[in-house]
Amino acid sequence: CPYHAWSYSLRGELVRVPSKTLPEGFDKADHPLYRVALSVWRGFVFVNLAEDAAGSAHSSFDPASADLGNWPLESLVSGHVLRKVMNCNWKIFWENFNECLHCPGVHKDLSRLVPIYGRGLMGRHDDPEWTRHADNDAPEFSGGLRAGAETWSRDGQAHGPVFSGLTPAEHAAGQTYATSLPSMFIVGHVDYVRSVRLVPLGPEQTELTAEWLFAPDALAATDIDNIVGFGTQVLEEDAAICEVNQKGLRSMRHKAGVLMPEEYDLHRFHDWVRERHAALVP
Ligand SMILES: [Fe+2]
Repeated sequence: CPYHAWSYSLRGELVRVPSKTLPEGFDKADHPLYRVALSVWRGFVFVNLAEDAAGSAHSSFDPASADLGNWPLESLVSGHVLRKVMNCNWKIFWENFNECLHCPGVHKDLSRLVPIYGRGLMGRHDDPEWTRHADNDAPEFSGGLRAGAETWSRDGQAHGPVFSGLTPAEHAAGQTYATSLPSMFIVGHVDYVRSVRLVPLGPEQTELTAEWLFAPDALAATDIDNIVGFGTQVLEEDAAICEVNQKGLRSMRHKAGVLMPEEYDLHRFHDWVRERHAALVP
């Protein structure tokens, strides 16, 4: 410890206290570092600050999101890291993540790449009139990327080898999300994977860490800037609008908003927060 120079073993046991005398009954064994729960999932290390956390990293993922089982997550390596402090509460970010009504206004380029986002929708069934277009496979109705595009990059093209184990549906989807509330989501694309981690720094401040992951041999052959530049733009757009939202919530007049039908995933998120809050506050 840099404060009073207590020394700990790598297992967290207190091994040395430099005081000249010790209080009566002081036993170093009573003062180890705090234990935390650790779980390894497909190359990611998850830490839960609870000593005996229930479940595992795997069980922390939303079963309604994808499992990315066909992406070789374990073998990927980091190609780029973006760290950013956003001046907003962590829940504001997740609310933003859970809807696309903001997409046409906030994400102009992304809305061109994923045409259904340009309609303010996340998927085919978000359209109340979807049965009228049920047989239409155009991406503005079915989801997925615009014709000719393969991945999230500035030009929509893959810039290295694509993963071989993906299904045709996973290829066509363009983006596949696995979500682990409240701290991370992972997006699988055909040629790379992006993880986004969140750490609350305070009531109105959240640190975001985005990491672009590639197959080791792809990293040398891949035009990373084309890929990283696009994802960074989308994250910056979201961060900026989340900060605007946070400012609005501080208005003395504001009490509550109202959810639109397209925001059904926000409703799920609010229920998730309510449940955990109720468990904490009897
Ligand atoms: Fe967004």
